[in-house]
Amino acid sequence: MVRAVYPGSFDPLHNGHVDVIRRAARLFDHLTVTVAYNPLKDNGLFTVDERVAIVRETVAGMANVEVATFQGLLVEFMRSAKANVIVKGLRAISDFEYELQMAHLNRQMNPAVETLFVMTATRWSYVSSTRVREIAKLGADVAKLVPPATLRRVRARFDGGSTPAG
Ligand code: PNS
Repeated sequence: MVRAVYPGSFDPLHNGHVDVIRRAARLFDHLTVTVAYNPLKDNGLFTVDERVAIVRETVAGMANVEVATFQGLLVEFMRSAKANVIVKGLRAISDFEYELQMAHLNRQMNPAVETLFVMTATRWSYVSSTRVREIAKLGADVAKLVPPATLRRVRARFDGGSTPAG
């Protein structure tokens, strides 16, 4: 049984993330999507609990996917999740250096842990949580970029938005 973990801030979960979750859930027997609590990021949109609720709602129909949170080192979480595969999405070469550094460091801290990259679907390769937050804060609609669970909360937070994005 191969157990994998897909970690991230997911602030908020967008369609690129959902694509990676769906594909990873087909590749591994069990997938834990884990939402990082990052005290250094104080300009977030949603609390960890809200982000978890969004992911839970989105993966509700996926039998082998569970949702968790973690604080501290990812390799420590990997031990508690009894998993040795980290799944990350790669959108473009611009993601690569950041991801490569983390993959090397995580493997140095725990050589049993492998990081495997899933290339984000072309149609979502331009979507990032940072841009979704920005567009939503500036009052445009992000309906084409995020799953329904995110959209509902974004609309509740910003009272919608009339300019369609994308
Ligand atoms: O969605 P993000 O912000 O790219 O996710 C980054 C995340 C949370 C996966 C990464 O920052 C992380 O693993 N943080 C936990 C702290 C840790 O283990 N740091 C050492 C990584 S080399």
